[in-house]
Amino acid sequence: MKILHISAECFPIAKVGGLADVVGALPKYQKNLGLTSSVVMPYYNNTFTQSNTFETVYNHYIALGHEYYHFKVLKLSNNQLGFDLFCIDIPDLLYTDFVYSNEDTKRFLAFQIATLDWVLKLTVKPDIMHVHDHHTGLIPFMMSYSFKYATLKNIPTVLTIHNAQYQGWFPHAHGGLIPPFNYENTGLLDWDGSINSLAAAIKCAWSVTTVSPTYMEELKLKANGLEALLHHESKKCKGILNGIDWNVWNPETDERLLKNYSKTTVISGKKANKKWLCKEFNLDVEKPLFIFIGRLVGEKGADLFPKIFKKALTENKISILLLGSGHTETETELAAIPKENFNTFIGYDEKLAHIMYAGADFLLMPSRVEPCGLNQMYSLRYGTVPIVNAIGGLKDTIIDIEKTAGFGIVHDGVTLGKVTSAITKATNYYYEKEFKKNLKKIMSIDYSWNNSAAAYVHLYESLKH
Ligand code: GLC
Repeated sequence: MKILHISAECFPIAKVGGLADVVGALPKYQKNLGLTSSVVMPYYNNTFTQSNTFETVYNHYIALGHEYYHFKVLKLSNNQLGFDLFCIDIPDLLYTDFVYSNEDTKRFLAFQIATLDWVLKLTVKPDIMHVHDHHTGLIPFMMSYSFKYATLKNIPTVLTIHNAQYQGWFPHAHGGLIPPFNYENTGLLDWDGSINSLAAAIKCAWSVTTVSPTYMEELKLKANGLEALLHHESKKCKGILNGIDWNVWNPETDERLLKNYSKTTVISGKKANKKWLCKEFNLDVEKPLFIFIGRLVGEKGADLFPKIFKKALTENKISILLLGSGHTETETELAAIPKENFNTFIGYDEKLAHIMYAGADFLLMPSRVEPCGLNQMYSLRYGTVPIVNAIGGLKDTIIDIEKTAGFGIVHDGVTLGKVTSAITKATNYYYEKEFKKNLKKIMSIDYSWNNSAAAYVHLYESLKH
C-alpha cells in the first residue's frame, strides 16, 4: 500500500514542533510494516534544502484564483531519510526561511493545490492521502468536490489532528482561490461564518485521528469551537498514540551527546552530560537538575514559569535550565530571574535539547493542552523522570510513582501551588534509593512507533475495503 503524507513540517528538513518529528518518523516505521510511505512538504529556504541535492520530477503552473504561479516538485536525491521526500517549490510563496507566518492562507493553499495537481498526473496514485493539521486540511474537500480533482475522489483520505487550537481560518471572500467546486458544497468549508480548513478536513476526510486517545475525548469538550463537530463526526474519529523515533533518540548511539550510555551505564553516562551542561550554564552539578524544553506559550503553562521557578528555587536546593522561546512577556520575566541555579537558552537548538534530556534529572511539562507530547517520551528514553500535568497524551503515557507500576510524577492541574509541590516531591524522590533503580526502568519503556504504527496500518486497510 502506498501512503502519501502531506505536511508543513518534517524532521530533519523543517521543524517547528512535534508535528515534524511525527512526520519524519512514522513513514520509516510504516515501511518496516510493508507500506511504501512518502512525504510531500513545501520547499523552504533552510540549511537542509541548501545542503542537499534534489531532482525535479514535475514542473508546471498552478492557478490561485486569477493568479498563476510556477511550481516544481523536487525529490530528495539520496535516500538518507528512509523514505521518499518530495518538496513543492513555489519560489514566490514557499521558499522562505520560516515555516509559518501571519499570512499563510495563500501559501498553504498553493502548496495543497500544487500537491494535488501533481498527484493528478502521477501514473501510479497513492492508495491513501494522509494529511496533517490544518495546513493540509483542504485537501480532502478538494479531492471530493473540486471538479478538476474528480479522478482522485476514490482515494481515501486520513486527517491527523496534532493540534486543534490552530484551524486555518480565512474569509469566504477568498473562497475563489480554491479550484472551482459546486457552490452547494460551500457549507462543508464553513464553520461559524468563515472558511475553516480544519473543520473542512474533519467533515470531508474519510477518517480522522488525533495523537492520543485522551486528546480525542478532550476535544469533544474543548476544541476551540469545534466541539460539536467532533461529537457529530465521532464515529470516524480515533485516538492513536504517537511514538518516537527509536533510532534518532537513542542514548547509546546519539552523536550529539558528550557521552553515550545504556541502561547499565546510565548513572555515569548521565553524570558526564550533566557535568557539561552545568559548566556551560553555570549550574551546580550536585543539585537535581530540572529542565523545560519547548515553546513558551500558555498551552505549555509557560506564563506561570517565572513564578514557579522563583518559588521552587527558594523552597528547594535545585537547578533549573530552560530551552525555548515564545511570548515576549514570559521571555522578559525569565530574563529578570537571577542566574543563580537557573539559566535559559532562548531559541531552539536540537543538539542542546538532546544533551539536556541526557544530562537532566527531571523534565517539567506542566501543559494545559498536550495532544500527545513527545518530550516526555524522549525524556524516558534518556533516563530523565518526567513531571507532567494529567492531560492529553501526558495522561496516557505517564503513571505517578505513588501508583502501582508508577515511574513519573503526575500533578492534576496547572497552578503555582500544584507545580511547585510536584517539584518538591521530585526533589525528595531524587534522594531516595528507588530513584536510581527507576532510571533503568524508564529507559526500558517502549514508546517507539513500534507500538502505534500498526494502528495506522489497520486504519488504512479498513478504508481500502
Ligand atoms: C503538536 C502537539 C503535541 C504533539 C505533536 C505531535 O505539537 O502540541 O502534543 O506531540 O503535535 O503530534
